[in-house]
Formats: sequence, C-alpha cells, structure tokens
Amino acid sequence: MSEPKEITRRDAAKVAAGATAAAVISGAPWIQKVKAANSQVQMAIIGVGGRGQYHVTHMNGLDGGRLVAACDIFQPNLDKAVNSSKDKPKGYKDYREVLNRNDIDAVLISTPLYTHFPITRDALLAGKHVLCEKSLVHKPEEVHALKKLVNERPKQVMQVGLQRRYSRFYQTARQMVDKGLLGDVTNVYAQWHRNLINVPSATWTMKKNDPRGEEGNWRLLSKFSGGLVAELGSHQMDIADWMFGSHFETITGVGGIDYFKDGRDVFDSVQLIFRYPKGQRLMASYISTNQHCALFGGQRAQFGEIIMGTEGTVHITVGTDDEPALGIWFREPAKKNPAAGTAKAAVASASLASTGKGAKALPILLSKDEVSEQDSFMQKELKFARRWLYSKGVMVPEEDRNPVDQQLIEFWDCCRSGAKPKADLEIGLSDSIAVILSNLSMKEDRKIWRKEIDTMGNPDAKAAPKKA
Ligand SMILES: NC(=O)c1ccc[n+]([C@@H]2O[C@H](COP(=O)([O-])OP(=O)(O)OC[C@H]3O[C@@H](n4cnc5c(N)ncnc54)[C@H](O)[C@@H]3O)[C@@H](O)[C@H]2O)c1
Repeated sequence: MSEPKEITRRDAAKVAAGATAAAVISGAPWIQKVKAANSQVQMAIIGVGGRGQYHVTHMNGLDGGRLVAACDIFQPNLDKAVNSSKDKPKGYKDYREVLNRNDIDAVLISTPLYTHFPITRDALLAGKHVLCEKSLVHKPEEVHALKKLVNERPKQVMQVGLQRRYSRFYQTARQMVDKGLLGDVTNVYAQWHRNLINVPSATWTMKKNDPRGEEGNWRLLSKFSGGLVAELGSHQMDIADWMFGSHFETITGVGGIDYFKDGRDVFDSVQLIFRYPKGQRLMASYISTNQHCALFGGQRAQFGEIIMGTEGTVHITVGTDDEPALGIWFREPAKKNPAAGTAKAAVASASLASTGKGAKALPILLSKDEVSEQDSFMQKELKFARRWLYSKGVMVPEEDRNPVDQQLIEFWDCCRSGAKPKADLEIGLSDSIAVILSNLSMKEDRKIWRKEIDTMGNPDAKAAPKKA
C-alpha cells in the first residue's frame, strides 16, 4: 500500500479557500452591529427546562436580542429563568398570553417535542418569527401542516435548533467535501453512546414521583417523544444529509428496550442504516450501556461522526461548554496507476494493503494556544500537529463562539434582515422525517422508503387506487 499523499500546495489552497468561505459566512452577522436598544429583537422563550435555561443563561452574554418574556408551565423552572436573565423578563405560565403581546418579535421554543408543533403553529399565526428546538415536529401530519403554514408566511423566519449548521468546524468539513478533498463521500458513521447504567441521567431515568406526572418523563414515552433518535440522532442525521447533499431513500432500523425495563416505551438501543440515492450509507448507533467512542483516538467519549470519502476521512464533533470542537482528517492512499505497475508490484501492494496500515491524522481544527509546560503529552502532540498543518499552508479555522450562541445571533440577524436561516424549515422537516421514519422502521420491523411520508398524514395526498 502506498504512503498517504503529501499535502500539496494545491490541496492546502483548497482547504484555505474553504475555510475563508466559512469565515465569510459566519463573519457576516458581525458586520451588522446592534446600534440601539430598539434594534434588538424583542424575544420570548417558551419552555425553560434544561435547554431553555441554557439559552437564557447564554443570552445574557449576547447582543442582538432582548428577552422580554419567559414562559413555562412548571413554576420552579419559570422562576429560575426569570431570576437568571439579565433582561428581567416577565414570567408567564400560558404561552398564548406571550403570543398576544404585540411588542414581541420572535419566540424561542424549547419545550418537549410533542408541543413543538402546536406552539410553533400558534406563534406563526400570531405573526412571530420562530426558532424551535430540534427535532422540529413529532408526527407525519405535523410535517405537512407546518410546511404549508410556513410557505404561506414567507416574511416570517422559521429556524430550527440544529446548531451544527452554525459551527465553523462543520462548515469547513462541508467545504472540504465541496473542494473534493474527501473525494466522493460514500459513507457517514455516527454514534452517540452513553453508559446510563453507571452514569444515570436525570432526564433519561423514569421518575416515579415527578410532580408533573407523565409529562415530567416525556423523553421516555413515545406519545411525547421520539426517544434517542429524536433527542440525539437528529443532529447527526442532518449532518449526513448535509455532507451527502441529498436526502436518504430508505431506512432500516433495529431497536429494542433491552436494558431499561422501567415503563418507558422508547428504545434504549438503536442501530440504523440509511441508504442515499447514489448508494451512500449513513450508519448510526445509539446505545445506553457503554460510552466509548472510537473516534479521535479514544480521547473523547460518547458522540461524533466519521465522514468517509474515496480520498479521505474526517472525524468531527461539536464542542460543549467544557470541551472544544474537534476535527481530524485522514488521507486515503494515492490512486494507483494500474498501467505503471508490474504484476509483482501489484501482488506486493495487495499484501501490504491487507496489513491495514493506517494514515496519519491531520487536525483540522485545534486550539491556537502556545504549547505550555502544563499541557499533557497528548495536548502537546496535538498542538505540534496543528502547527505542522499551518506550516503546510493549510488554514485551520477556529470556532469563534459556541454554535448554539451563533445560531441565536444569526436568528436575530435573520429577523432583522428577512434572510433565510441556515437551518431553515426544509432542513428541520427533513430531519424530522428521518426521525419519524427511523422510529417507524424499528417499530414495524421493516425497511421504510422516505417517499412514504408523502402520503402519511397528508390530507392533500391522493388516495391510493383501490385494488380490484
Ligand atoms: N439543540 C440541542 O442540542 C438540544 C439539547 C437539549 C435539548 N434540546 C431540545 O430542547 C427541547 C427541550 O428539552 P429539555 O431538555 O429542555 O427538556 P426539559 O423537560 O428539561 O424542559 C422542557 C420544559 O418545557 C416546559 N413545558 C412543557 N410544556 C410546556 C408548555 N405547553 N408551555 C410552556 N412550557 C412547557 C416544561 O415544564 C419544562 O420546563 C427538546 O425538544 C429537546 O430535544 C435540544
């Protein structure tokens, strides 16, 4: 097997060009500085549990929007949000009262999945711009109804909380695909594995005495939730669509309630295979008994994606508040010219290939910090690798800010300018279709075609002709 190709100046220029384009895209909002208080988007948040509270706290550090109202049916969460916002929003228990306020331009919806559609619908009908958390909708009929409603209201912004679309890491990975650095992208592998046996999660444990009853356990009950696929997988299914540049054609899934016999009816272990139109595949895995992550040399746990092409591979994951985003690039062996090789050389290369010799990892994005004495061996190694990449002329973009914050800033910008968001309705609905059909495939134990959604729950679909 041949050695991995050296990066050529041409390759470096391709990456640098991609990164520059990403910088232009994500740099644009900063041009439009908030000039006065009244140019701030007047914002309400509906649902201030785990995610909503995160948004409230993060909004305290952002310009461009002012939180004038917060709403939650659960008083302790509402009180916490109202008290922790620098904007001192008014608290509400009924979201319809929020929507009745004429001074509110936009709403951020971070309620449980089963409430996304009714609240989004009512907010749009009340003339508000909407940023709704993923997964956008829960049922097939909601896919069709929301599409119709949003298309009838083109002046209102409809954005979905798929924050990877706002990450410069992922934007750069997409630029690498565009520039051909990965060749033909044929496969994506995605995993989000947790060990909920050893490290129980409050949100994924059935709480017997929650004062909200069933609603307090909404993630674990399929009438309210799409389970692991909606809560975790939705982010990664969107990445596969983005990298392949198309939507899946079929989905085959295996799911089980194998370890958590606590009354939940969503699967605790899920494997999915999606087939895309040119034969590409997304394989996605969601398990609850082990958190090991084979990506990034094992230095990170739980989640990440591998984007595989005929010329290279990218390992990629988003940052959290505690850890930076990470991307590593591996190159495939150079293409053999069969005419140039002898039969002996061909045999030698075939046997070498069978040893599975790997390629060197090339960081796409790491911290700019100088190497310091406090760094671990691994940290130093990574920093040297990054410098090496720089020395080759490859531009290494950095996440300027948390993509969750970036999506909010760009949402406010869209509200002011009327521009279409990066994570728009089409992306959100495609993502929901993938979630809904994955769960259906596992439940009915069959391969599902994406086109089945066209007639599912669609009042405008023509009835199938009756068999004679
Ligand atoms: N983008 C991401 O990475 C990300 C991360 C976490 C959660 N989420 C999404 O955010 C949403 C909320 O998740 P969470 O973890 O915050 O759940 P949660 O249960 O912690 O919070 C939901 C809150 O909504 C409130 N609520 C329920 N019905 C309401 C209604 N009709 N009106 C007002 N408030 C209502 C509940 O009382 C609760 O406080 C989910 O859709 C989830 O998938 C997205």
